[in-house]
Amino acid sequence: MFMNFRRIRKCQCVQLITTCFILSIMTACWEQLDHHIVSHMKSYSYRYLVNSYNFINTSFTISRKEANSLNNYSYVINHERACDSSDVLLLLFVKSSPQNVARRQSIRSTWGNETYVRRELGANVRVVFALGLHPQPEQRSRVQQELLREDRMYRDLIQQDFEDTFHNLTIKLLLQFRWAHTHCSHARFLMSADDDIFVHMPNLVRYLQELSWKGVQDFWVGRVHRGAPPIRRKDSKYYVPYEMYQWASYPDYTAGAGYVVSGDVAAKIYQASLTLNTTLYIDDVFMGICATAMGVSPQEHVYFSGEGKAPYHPCIYNKMITSHGHVTDIQDLWKAATNPEVQNISSGLMGRLYCTAVKAILLCKPYYYDTYPCKAAFS
Ligand SMILES: *[C@@H]1O[C@H](CO)[C@@H](O)[C@H](O)[C@H]1NC(C)=O
Ligand SMILES: *[C@@H]1O[C@H](CO)[C@@H](O)[C@H](O)[C@H]1NC(C)=O
Ligand SMILES: *[C@@H]1O[C@H](CO)[C@@H](O)[C@H](O)[C@H]1NC(C)=O
Ligand SMILES: *[C@@H]1O[C@H](CO)[C@@H](O)[C@H](O)[C@H]1NC(C)=O
Ligand SMILES: *[C@@H]1O[C@H](CO)[C@@H](O)[C@H](O)[C@H]1NC(C)=O
Ligand SMILES: *[C@@H]1O[C@H](CO)[C@@H](O)[C@H](O)[C@H]1NC(C)=O
Repeated sequence: MFMNFRRIRKCQCVQLITTCFILSIMTACWEQLDHHIVSHMKSYSYRYLVNSYNFINTSFTISRKEANSLNNYSYVINHERACDSSDVLLLLFVKSSPQNVARRQSIRSTWGNETYVRRELGANVRVVFALGLHPQPEQRSRVQQELLREDRMYRDLIQQDFEDTFHNLTIKLLLQFRWAHTHCSHARFLMSADDDIFVHMPNLVRYLQELSWKGVQDFWVGRVHRGAPPIRRKDSKYYVPYEMYQWASYPDYTAGAGYVVSGDVAAKIYQASLTLNTTLYIDDVFMGICATAMGVSPQEHVYFSGEGKAPYHPCIYNKMITSHGHVTDIQDLWKAATNPEVQNISSGLMGRLYCTAVKAILLCKPYYYDTYPCKAAFS
């Protein structure tokens, strides 16, 4: 009896100390955790309202005339017949800037090589670059001359007369959907990509060919942001004032680094953009608003990366679709990722087991966000 009582007291004492210890750690960390976690929990629970009800659509809807006056830019460089072949699997827009010549060159000679895709993969893909004008007026005419020369060589630039800046990205988004509507409405898929991403074209094309055979519609895929809160810190690149977006959460959308929509969704987004207020300058969020207005929702693909860069490994190359943050290593990555031996590494039972283990080690580390999620190792 007495012994037991002592043991209980000792036990409670340990509990008490542990509890105090945990509490003190929590109070120490709470300051930092608090803001982040609370705002994400708030916005994530709010997301249901934003996605399910009509208030975003209602508050962003304006008249056609007003919408047109917000987005009435003319083409400076255009190729109206760039998409003329009858059977286009994918129209791929690369969002580029006038001065990024080197990036465009790398893309043309690697994943953006249309000839390669036609010969090796048997698909028609059109890769074009979406641009505005150089933002500095003093440099504009010189850069423009170089652009014209580049375009005479490759005939793949589409440019409108707005300033090419971060805060004009929504205008660039509208350029893409307008051009697709006017000149390439028969493309079965449309992709929008940054000029610093790597696209594993063979994997992407095989994936889209399969979807196309199934006749997929209402399709929008990428790295999905669900219930992301608007950023209200004035020093952030992504700062959005309340006047521009008043709710606690954005509708679901895919990261702008690279996403794909089916032709019917591209048409719907274009239609939506004709009666929406386009002043919200975060382009991928604006795309989410257009989609909400049309009742389209995005789906996740674990091998589309968001902001993140994929680990370099053949087991990853075998599955990857996009990876962000590649400029100088594009040539090497293209060679490595399209090497025929990559297919062999994961073949057979042993190969599959080996690759699953490697991917689990590479992707399932704590604090390893933004690239492919842990579950990608097991898909
Ligand atoms: C659009 O711009 C063109 C010239 O660039 C102009 O003639 C036309 O009136 C503008 N339309 C609207 C609705 O602002
Ligand atoms: C594109 O691919 C084709 C066929 O694989 C190749 O002959 C050509 O040199 C490539 N183009 C560039 C610019 O690398
Ligand atoms: C966007 O482009 C327009 C037209 O060139 C320009 O007037 C405006 O200043 C640009 N906006 C930003 C934020 O750069
Ligand atoms: C579009 O939204 C902005 C706020 O982001 C607002 O100032 C502007 O008046 C709106 N335009 C129209 C035509 O309603
Ligand atoms: C959004 O608003 C437009 C115009 O008011 C309407 O035609 C459309 O059906 C609305 N979308 C949804 C999903 O309710
Ligand atoms: C891949 O494996 C096949 C047999 O499974 C073999 O015929 C082929 O040569 C291999 N390819 C490479 C590049 O090793």
